[in-house]
Amino acid sequence: MLHGSKANVRKIVAKEKTRSQFGRASSLMQYAPWFTDAGRMQRLVRFAEIQKDSRVLDIACGTGVLSAYLCKLGTSVTGIDITPAMLAYAKRNCAECAFICADAESLPFTTTSGKNSSKLFDLCITRACIHHIQNIKSLLREIRRVSNVLIIEDTSSSENPAEARLHNLLEKMRDPSHNWMHSLSELRRIIESEGYTVEKLEVTETNREFEDWMSVAVVDSKTRARCRALLIDSIKRGRDDTGLNVKVKNGKITFTHKRFLLKASCA
Ligand SMILES: C[S@@+](CC[C@H](N)C(=O)[O-])C[C@H]1O[C@@H](n2cnc3c(N)ncnc32)[C@H](O)[C@@H]1O
Repeated sequence: MLHGSKANVRKIVAKEKTRSQFGRASSLMQYAPWFTDAGRMQRLVRFAEIQKDSRVLDIACGTGVLSAYLCKLGTSVTGIDITPAMLAYAKRNCAECAFICADAESLPFTTTSGKNSSKLFDLCITRACIHHIQNIKSLLREIRRVSNVLIIEDTSSSENPAEARLHNLLEKMRDPSHNWMHSLSELRRIIESEGYTVEKLEVTETNREFEDWMSVAVVDSKTRARCRALLIDSIKRGRDDTGLNVKVKNGKITFTHKRFLLKASCA
């Protein structure tokens, strides 16, 4: 593909949006309970069956809260992220982890192919990142190059395409670096089409409070008002257009995010 092709330019713009968004949000993300919650990280560790001494690659590690948590359990952690401001916090959070500024779609590791070549990492984890990725297939190929096991924790959208579209529009209004949040069946199809076997899947519904959700993404008041109006409109006359089970009580908006944990392996 030519360097200046439309697709290439789109990719560069998208990555720059990510750096800009997370550059602004880094100081808030560092403390946001959504990411720092120890119970949630414990659940991930249990689900992933992470062993002491495992070599873990934390893809899109952000401020490194999860990397630091895993490191304390005795694993050897390498974290990569595309946003320097997020990595600056990560380095302060865990001096023992190795952090590298890199694009998840082009991992900075040299590997050799061949039947007997062992993989660099026992597992790759990626949390709250898949919905930012431009080309999930290239991410999956990169992961397979360095590990046989993949753990994803993220949020999914509705299985109903119209609801998923509106939900994604809202997510993009809130965070312009958001690419696309797939439904679980869509994502599973993509993962399996790349030769992975999905071994485990766990879904939980988490209640979210609109203002809290907005504040972590550093949203200006005009956009906040548009998102609020969209959500209120989505439940007029008993509808649920976003599939987010939106509720409005005394002016306070709440909704439900479907979070999932997925473990996949490849031979
Ligand atoms: C919502 S934060 C999650 C951070 C971390 N995984 C956690 O759960 O605490 C999303 C992170 O994905 C990173 N990111 C987005 N696209 C990326 C890409 N293509 N390569 C590497 N990192 C990326 C952002 O810079 C940001 O730090």
